[in-house]
Amino acid sequence: MSAYPKAVAEGWHPVATLKALRKGKPLARRLMGKPVVVFQSADGPAVLLDRCPHRNMALSRGRVREGAIECPYHGWRFAQDGRCVLTPGAEEPARHGATPLPVIERAGIIWTTLAERPNAGPTLPHPIEADGFDSFWWPIKPTRARLLDAVENLLDPAHPHFLHPGIVRSGTARNPVEATVRVAHDYAEARYIENTQAQALMPRVMEGKRVASIGRFFPPSTGQVAFENTKGLKLSITVFFVPEADELVRPLAHLATQSGVIPPIFKEIMLRAFDMVILAQDQLALRRQAEDIAAFGAPKYAVGPLDVLFPAIHALANGETPAPSERTLRMML
Ligand code: FES
Ligand SMILES: [Fe+2]
Repeated sequence: MSAYPKAVAEGWHPVATLKALRKGKPLARRLMGKPVVVFQSADGPAVLLDRCPHRNMALSRGRVREGAIECPYHGWRFAQDGRCVLTPGAEEPARHGATPLPVIERAGIIWTTLAERPNAGPTLPHPIEADGFDSFWWPIKPTRARLLDAVENLLDPAHPHFLHPGIVRSGTARNPVEATVRVAHDYAEARYIENTQAQALMPRVMEGKRVASIGRFFPPSTGQVAFENTKGLKLSITVFFVPEADELVRPLAHLATQSGVIPPIFKEIMLRAFDMVILAQDQLALRRQAEDIAAFGAPKYAVGPLDVLFPAIHALANGETPAPSERTLRMML
């Protein structure tokens, strides 16, 4: 049995951007504790277990030669499907191949899975593949965090007053908000109707009058926060939380804003500047939370009145199919 939630263990995860791959070097990654190597092969993007079948050297230490990955120890070369295509000094390549993993390329990202019988492919929430948005991918370095705690952190409306005062929420003033929590068989969302001029810095600069903010969860471990104004979806931040190992999470963020008069590069610079600060604050909290949980051996969670997505996140990540439901409640955010 895997220690990872079922949908996570069986799900598709992003391992590299096409942009990073095109630089030509093999990329060393980890997925749920397993080292994998991602490289651009003659037949397209390839993901192999990062282990040479010959003497177990990590293939990511090698280089890409003629569309195959070359082990740095004795020079065996492997193709996209793991087949050994060259064994230097021998007439025929060795019959022993490296282990290939399934690969899907979508939206400029390489996805793979450790599932024995993979499902159709990754879930890419709107607006990742939609027209009419300026968007960019933002790969974030792995940091210590518990996987579902990291997902919940992104979607949690209760901590910004405390962790990000003045940036995401005011830190002092709260407004009445109506929250509608919808759980479906394959995702869950909380929609917060705000209808106010936000007081904190980031929403002021990026959004103008905010009508609603929405937090969504998609299994295996994807969170999305979206902000709508009177003209519709204004900004969405979708984060794929990749479980590299126990308590080691590599987030890949996708940010999209409604196309308009502001040049995309300007928006990208603004978003990165704000999010860099917020990210550092969240990462520090998540690292401390993981350390504090470790001191007790295991977590024990109280589900508070504002933790509206917590049960659905855990159910969906664990491969359960929650009964569809919808409820509305009031809170102060
Ligand atoms: S260890 Fe890879 S070729 Fe020998
Ligand atoms: Fe946060």
